[in-house]
Amino acid sequence: MRIGVPKETKSNEKRVAATPDSIKRITGKIKGLKFLIESGAGEGSHYSDDAYTAVGAEIVDRKAALGAEIVLKVNRPAEDEIKLMSKGGVLISFIDPFKDDGTMEKLAKAGVSAFGLELVPRISRAQSMDALSSQANIAGYRAVIEACSQFGRFFPTMMTAAGSAKPAKVIILGVGVAGLQAIATAKRLGANVEAFDVRPEVKEQVLSLGAKFIEIDIGEDGSGTGGYAKELSAEAKAKQQAGLNEKLKKADIIITTALIPGRPAPLLVTEEAVKGMRQGSVVVDLAAANGGNCAGTEADKTVVKDGVIIIGNTNLLSLMPSDASDFFARNLINLMTLLIKPEEPPVLNIDLEDEIVAGSLATHAGEVLFKKK
Ligand code: NAI
Repeated sequence: MRIGVPKETKSNEKRVAATPDSIKRITGKIKGLKFLIESGAGEGSHYSDDAYTAVGAEIVDRKAALGAEIVLKVNRPAEDEIKLMSKGGVLISFIDPFKDDGTMEKLAKAGVSAFGLELVPRISRAQSMDALSSQANIAGYRAVIEACSQFGRFFPTMMTAAGSAKPAKVIILGVGVAGLQAIATAKRLGANVEAFDVRPEVKEQVLSLGAKFIEIDIGEDGSGTGGYAKELSAEAKAKQQAGLNEKLKKADIIITTALIPGRPAPLLVTEEAVKGMRQGSVVVDLAAANGGNCAGTEADKTVVKDGVIIIGNTNLLSLMPSDASDFFARNLINLMTLLIKPEEPPVLNIDLEDEIVAGSLATHAGEVLFKKK
């Protein structure tokens, strides 16, 4: 069975969907798999073609990688890539299912069974396959590192003969995967950390990391299904904004990670809050790709508004490509083991009775399944 790994073409994408380590792991478990790696696919993550051939992979051109029975990718394929995929083949990648630009229909028409990593259900058995979480974890860490490098002051308390500096005040908005990692990272750097989320159940997790939970009575529970938030009513949004604004003005660093699946990012840091912040403060908006949680955020730009530095990098993962690729590739081989019967030769087995397989399958047998869920 051939498994193709093309080089990512999205601008500024440095990750790769299979690493020499992930190939070694899965070929050790399932005999008869042949990895076809497009020449240079691992370059951005510091994996040379030789490192792949050392674990038995073959270096091929783009056409051969995309024409394999299973194609592993980081980002959703472009039209010219879909044209090179095999009818009856499988694609595993982020597919951005909520973006309505015809890609899903094209995949279905090409006869590709596309597994969307965003659709992997958030259940315990799927944790090792949850690429959204593995990547958000890294983004949460890197967001704090970026803030730290742009902030002209210390994070920890600093006592010197020339005087002392107070610890930075860091506020994390949205305490999901990225938010929790951002809290832990900012705490390790010695900052004073507070966090807020509309799902009250995360308070305990915030406290267990040694941070303070910002209490705001928004008059409703923001918890949705599957560990995600739901959209708030207009009244609750207004209460949240009133409660947050004063707090935010005193922050040195704000990391925003608020997400509601399939909806534009909620606005949490208003223009007024930005205006009230001290000059040289930093906002890192993880939701920049989806409209942003902060007024003034520009996707893939760092801008300065009223003296506040607003970072809208939509791919912080490509600043940590080696670990991001390692984690991503491991998620993929864990998902692949659900789809392949380890016989000799191995057999593709799309078991629609399996909750993870059925939940993450976006196109199959010529149809777009995702919209029907
Ligand atoms: P998640 O779903 O685990 O966490 C999002 C959190 O936001 C949830 O806890 C939710 O309750 C909270 N939330 C929703 N509405 C809120 C509101 N009005 N106020 C406060 N909290 C609210 O999501 P995850 O995986 O942690 O991802 C966070 C964000 O980071 C997403 O927007 C994701 O797209 C983005 N991301 C950005 C990357 C980058 O490089 N810029 C890389 C990876 C993820």
